[in-house]
Amino acid sequence: MESQLDYHTAKALLEWQIELGATEAIGDAPVNRYEAPKEAPKPKPAAPVTASAPVAADDPVAVAQAAAASAQDLAGLKAAMAGFEHCELKRGARNLVFADGNPAARIMVIGEAPGRDEDLQGRPFVGRAGQLLDRMLAAIGRDRASEVADQAVYITNILPWRPPQNRDPTPEEIAMMMPFVRRHVDLVAPQALVLMGNISCQALLGRKGITRLRGNWTEALGLPALPMFHPAYLLRNPHAKRDAWHDLLMLQARLREAKT
Ligand code: URA
Repeated sequence: MESQLDYHTAKALLEWQIELGATEAIGDAPVNRYEAPKEAPKPKPAAPVTASAPVAADDPVAVAQAAAASAQDLAGLKAAMAGFEHCELKRGARNLVFADGNPAARIMVIGEAPGRDEDLQGRPFVGRAGQLLDRMLAAIGRDRASEVADQAVYITNILPWRPPQNRDPTPEEIAMMMPFVRRHVDLVAPQALVLMGNISCQALLGRKGITRLRGNWTEALGLPALPMFHPAYLLRNPHAKRDAWHDLLMLQARLREAKT
């Protein structure tokens, strides 16, 4: 399947490797790695989990489900994700970006995937978009560093590894990481989810079209969920900050109502 790489994709992949620090080819003889599996299929690594039912080791979604289900707490979930070998993005990433903030928070923000800064620091939403997110949350009295549940926020992404060139995650990548996202939400058990941007909506609602979805409460994983414009979109389209402000006020109102 990868043998159909077009010129631009191949070039982007090469640039990605250079960005990661691969400056020289190793080995005297060239190896066509795209053909290698046909001749000598490499056994897939066994699932690093103990599951009650047998898991097909070559079915990434089944392996992810078993690994996620075996996690009893957030540390266990992080370890299960770190041990998941079926997502190619892991190989190009510097760090697993698991989550940030206070797991006791009433709100859980779910973004798309780490970018460059997040990949370097191993924390979600720390680049320019993340700084805008922090300012947005501060406007409604929330801070990821707060130890007070009602003033805190917990932040994660659909994907824990940075996609090359910050490209959109593929449906396969989303599908194989979703069991971890579901378990993550189960373990944190927030009162509301904020779905940041199209990828998060696609993954959790099965719908895209953030312009229509935003600002309307819906349900995801059995919880109230509010789709919002992604802060990276707001950086590119400052006029949309008005809508984002409206949505933040909706979020604040809902949380206040839930308290009374
Ligand atoms: N965009 C996201 O969706 N998540 C991050 O962590 C950073 C940028």
